[in-house]
Amino acid sequence: MAQIKLTDVQKTYGTVEVLRNINLEIESGEFTVFVGPSGCGKSTLLRMIAGLESITSGTLEIDGMVMNNVPPAQRGIAMVFQSYALYPHMTVAENMAFALKIAKKSKAEIEQAIHHAADILQLRPLLDRLPKELSGGQRQRVAIGRAIVRNPSVFLFDEPLSNLDAALRVQTRLEIANLHKNLSTSMIYVTHDQVEAMTLADKIVLLNAGEAVQRDGSLAQVGPPLELYHRPVTRFVAGFIGSPKMNFIPGELLSSDGQRATVRLCNGSIVHAAVDTHKAKQGAQIELGIRPEHFSSEIGQGDIVKGKVSYVERLGEVSYLYLKIEGHDKLVTARDEGDAPYDQGDLVELHVPVGNCHLFDNTGKAFPRLI
Ligand SMILES: Nc1ncnc2c1ncn2[C@@H]1O[C@H](COP(=O)(O)OP(=O)(O)OP(=O)(O)O)[C@@H](O)[C@H]1O
Ligand SMILES: [Mg+2]
Repeated sequence: MAQIKLTDVQKTYGTVEVLRNINLEIESGEFTVFVGPSGCGKSTLLRMIAGLESITSGTLEIDGMVMNNVPPAQRGIAMVFQSYALYPHMTVAENMAFALKIAKKSKAEIEQAIHHAADILQLRPLLDRLPKELSGGQRQRVAIGRAIVRNPSVFLFDEPLSNLDAALRVQTRLEIANLHKNLSTSMIYVTHDQVEAMTLADKIVLLNAGEAVQRDGSLAQVGPPLELYHRPVTRFVAGFIGSPKMNFIPGELLSSDGQRATVRLCNGSIVHAAVDTHKAKQGAQIELGIRPEHFSSEIGQGDIVKGKVSYVERLGEVSYLYLKIEGHDKLVTARDEGDAPYDQGDLVELHVPVGNCHLFDNTGKAFPRLI
């Protein structure tokens, strides 16, 4: 177990700044997930913690010791890559033993460590096989086993499941969650997949991309998964967390009494939101954010916004309506329980509960929600 602290960390490649203003603390034993769009610097950040990439400026501390110039092998860290990186000519057991042999551990110690890891990962029957005789999921388990035998104080995972098919991803995700529960070791996990982020993380670190990095630094928001879902601090976070994505509908702030904001949407509908907009001017251009699952079909549950059905996706347990609303060029998505008995062109009344609304100013900052 180890505590990790990054202070004012920055990374540049030549003149290109990839990461900026990273101030982050990861508690001992915590499961932290780095997410963000492709190219935002997740792997780079992970590799800097591992020592595989230099830190341009700022400090990295592990358990209070500055690690910027400490070689990777002395950081107490083990990393698992997407590509497994197993030695093809070595058996499962030999692959797992390799780092311990290099570290000159005794035969008995090595054997015990391999059997311990093999039990956790159910690899015992496979110990004598070569990597080419294993499935993708089994290879990934060996790669994790190779990390476990080193008994690290931090595990780093870089998209470890992205080569696996959907069913195996779910199973291996559960195995990793269990591993964390059993070992209680700090883990940092990089993924594109927000289901992995939501289900595995104690803490999500969502990284900004593009212009926002220059303006606000690399960290978009850091917190428990449900905090990012319920209280996104920017439109970017709101749009990134949640699937299908949150709807954003432009409008104008009519009034604000500290408890409720009144908004006129682009189609003329008036909507009330339990959001504190007292710092904004009347008439300000804002956006209403509402998630597809947060419209209500019950009459009396909030203000009404009318939309015309463009198309419907029926997934069995749920359906998604894609609706055109006047004055808005993007379709609005609404979740409907059941089979959605609608046809293209039908007019639908969406109810917008006052407590389910988010409001964003014209720079994309969220106003504080009151519920
Ligand atoms: N050695 C390098 N030289 C120059 N630029 C680099 C180098 N390595 C990475 N980059 C750039 O740094 C940025 C961050 O890369 P990184 O691999 O960390 O992104 P990522 O968030 O892990 O993306 P993905 O989700 O696609 O894996 C990218 O824009 C990439 O092009
Ligand atoms: Mg990456």
